[in-house]
Amino acid sequence: MTHTAHTVAPQGSGTLTALRGSTAGGVPFYAAQAGECELFTHCFEQHLPLLIKGPTGCGKTRFVEHMAARLQRPLITVSCHDDLSAADLVGRHLIGQGNTVWTDGPLTRAVREGAILYLDEVVEARKDTTVVLHPLADDRRLLPIERTGELLKAPPEFMLVISYNPGYQNLLKGLKPSTRQRFTALSLNYPSPAVERAILEREGHASPALAARLVQLAQALRRLTDHDLEETASTRLLVMAARLVTSGLPLRDACRAAVVDALTDDAETILALDEVVRAIVGDED
Ligand SMILES: Nc1ncnc2c1ncn2[C@@H]1O[C@H](COP(=O)(O)OP(=O)(O)OP(=O)(O)O)[C@@H](O)[C@H]1O
Ligand SMILES: [Mg+2]
Repeated sequence: MTHTAHTVAPQGSGTLTALRGSTAGGVPFYAAQAGECELFTHCFEQHLPLLIKGPTGCGKTRFVEHMAARLQRPLITVSCHDDLSAADLVGRHLIGQGNTVWTDGPLTRAVREGAILYLDEVVEARKDTTVVLHPLADDRRLLPIERTGELLKAPPEFMLVISYNPGYQNLLKGLKPSTRQRFTALSLNYPSPAVERAILEREGHASPALAARLVQLAQALRRLTDHDLEETASTRLLVMAARLVTSGLPLRDACRAAVVDALTDDAETILALDEVVRAIVGDED
């Protein structure tokens, strides 16, 4: 069985993307935090859907890509947005030359193929999507396709994975308890210093000393609570900083571009974050 990663925009504009990240034997690199790979495997084996929550850039997408490859299932990813409807997920009749042709949406395709379907930022999707997700997410594992009259039974290999970032949530957009309680849940956060250093060495090609310095910086920034930051320095931003340094940019400039300016537009906050950068990385290149 081959592994494919699809990133699917709403119907009609689906794009295929190649697997991202460094791979070993076709499996994208993922440094585990604490037992999440085992949890994912048990959910897959028990046909349980999984909800992954965590801040931006903490590794949710990479984790799902890694697990899909390990379990040798195709992965179909849908980035949810506030216009995404049940029909976008299930499919629709498209008008061809004088006739209409049914076209499966990503959810239907995932059920037919026994794929892992990953709905990213699911709280953004329109409420009518729960109508199709509910019978699929509980023990019935059914997908009713109202417009064609089909009722698909999900094969054992099909798995539904959803994610959201609790930091962005507002009350109106929270998941209903009846949706939430259909999913096992996994909370990811930024990794421990040792794991994060390993990620920077692997993903950002950082030397051990650079990785240690950047992780130290992240720890200091994550301790700041009195600044108006929506989110703090993510592993993603640290990887970007490491790459800039590896490519030859001085460390201070890399931190400014990949961390400070990436985190905020507010002049005062920029000054404060810059202070932290200076205290930790000094003026070294
Ligand atoms: N545990 C990890 N193992 C390997 N790489 C990681 C890990 N965590 C983060 N990364 C690195 O950080 C980048 C961002 O991770 P990812 O895209 O998975 O974040 P995310 O949680 O899906 O963020 P968002 O909520 O913004 O979609 C990855 O491309 C990878 O380089
Ligand atoms: Mg993601």
